[in-house]
Amino acid sequence: MKCYLAYGLVGDNMEITVSASDNINGTLILPLYEGVEEIPEECERGLPQGMKSQINRVLADGDFKAKKKTTMSLIGGEDGKVILAGLGKSDEVSVHDFRKSGAAVFASIKKVHGDDFTVRFTDTGVSHMAAFAEGMMLRNYSYNEYKIKDEEETEGEKQVRLTCSEKESEELSALVNKYRGITKGVHLSRDLGNCPPNDMYPEVFADMAWEWAKDFDNVDVTIINYEQAIKAGMGGLVAVGKGSSRKPCMVIFEMNKNVKGRCPVLVGKGITFDTGGISLKPGANMDEMKYDMGGSATVFGTMEALAQTGHEGKVVAITCMAENMPAANATRPGDVIKGLSGKTIEVLNTDAEGRLVLSDGLWKAGEYDPEFIIDFATLTGACVVALGHEATGLWSNDDDFRTEIHEAGNAVDELAWPMPLLPAFEKEMTDSKIADTRNLGAGRWGGANTAAAFLKQFVPNRNYDKDGEQITWAHMDIAGTYWGAKTNSMVKNGATGIHVRTIHHLITNR
Ligand code: BES
Ligand code: ZN
Ligand code: ZN
Repeated sequence: MKCYLAYGLVGDNMEITVSASDNINGTLILPLYEGVEEIPEECERGLPQGMKSQINRVLADGDFKAKKKTTMSLIGGEDGKVILAGLGKSDEVSVHDFRKSGAAVFASIKKVHGDDFTVRFTDTGVSHMAAFAEGMMLRNYSYNEYKIKDEEETEGEKQVRLTCSEKESEELSALVNKYRGITKGVHLSRDLGNCPPNDMYPEVFADMAWEWAKDFDNVDVTIINYEQAIKAGMGGLVAVGKGSSRKPCMVIFEMNKNVKGRCPVLVGKGITFDTGGISLKPGANMDEMKYDMGGSATVFGTMEALAQTGHEGKVVAITCMAENMPAANATRPGDVIKGLSGKTIEVLNTDAEGRLVLSDGLWKAGEYDPEFIIDFATLTGACVVALGHEATGLWSNDDDFRTEIHEAGNAVDELAWPMPLLPAFEKEMTDSKIADTRNLGAGRWGGANTAAAFLKQFVPNRNYDKDGEQITWAHMDIAGTYWGAKTNSMVKNGATGIHVRTIHHLITNR
């Protein structure tokens, strides 16, 4: 087993400290509001005269207008190097603009800037300063594990100092520490997604979860391997994964399992490669199907974020890991399978496999007395058609809960857009001539909605009571947002690690 994960390195190659001193180490980073014509007075402390005049000249001449997400490097002055960072208009500015500005600065950093940085803020709230730091940390990521390392090119450890007033420093440190922990989760999700599929397959994911849990006293990982999955009746997971030599498994994470009461249960689609199976996909861009385990990466990353930030509540996560391959022993279109729920499924298209593995994951979730269940899946191309790369599709059997997730996404600037869970779609997915459900809609329209309606058939009622109430559940289709989102300025390319921050926010602010 060989898997080059940058986990443990990324995020760790940058140290952020908070300081109330006036000293400037290395390159000065100066976030500025649009329209300023000289350095704000409160920023001037400790700035060498030459540096001050250089900056003031650029601002007075209007060469740097400080528009949102813009940066300008001033290099070559005797008194040091500077990066000016635009925040946009001061009366409109939000924490999101600060986060984006921090990310823009880190996107612009070159070797010439060195490894030491000092950020000097204009009179700003602590939450805004912390968001700027968060943007720097999130954007400070690249996946170079498969490139032969050139000593010259290797980046050194970056030291970033955020300067603030004495009375702000404690609160700022605490917030920066929290974001550091959350960023580790985001970067882990990206690492898992970016890892090529020859090295990232169900067993590797399971081993990684197992190894990861050893670092935390309060997390247990259980692996349900292929034989156990067959015995347990996980017909959906088995049907998808059986055609691959990399056999499927289910990985269950339990955090603070001794805490009493109901808990959030997260479920992730973990298809480490989706060829479509016997309903083989066309060749173009098939390589991107390595990201089809993005749901499981989101869930694992969220557990990391929660663990790193010392979350004390109980949380359970279930990942359904399989590789979808065509083979002599693969599931065929036309096969009828039965999973954990006992309901039968007519498999009309083996490329609609995510919903099959999730049907077992969702049903399994019921064992943990969920406060709610949220599943994450790169589930449908139709969701990308509907929302592009700008928003995750969001469905729920509870309107208030759907709004709560939408708002949690807004709070951290990760858009999840409400989509309809209509009875007509449920009817379409239960209208099989031969089985209880079918894994394909009747036509091609509304494919993201029919997929969600299919999943709903496998969300258990409380205590699995036939006449009971269905557990509160939401489905997040991240097919358009887990990778390839060019407008996501928190990431250069590859996996985005989306929704680790959303769900951390949701769970810790409830
Ligand atoms: N993993 C894909 C969905 C996908 C496609 C995500 C493209 C991102 C980009 C999923 O398993 C799939 O193939 N879905 C089919 C469903 C169809 C057969 C009903 C799809 O979307 O075409
Ligand atoms: Zn598929
Ligand atoms: Zn898939």
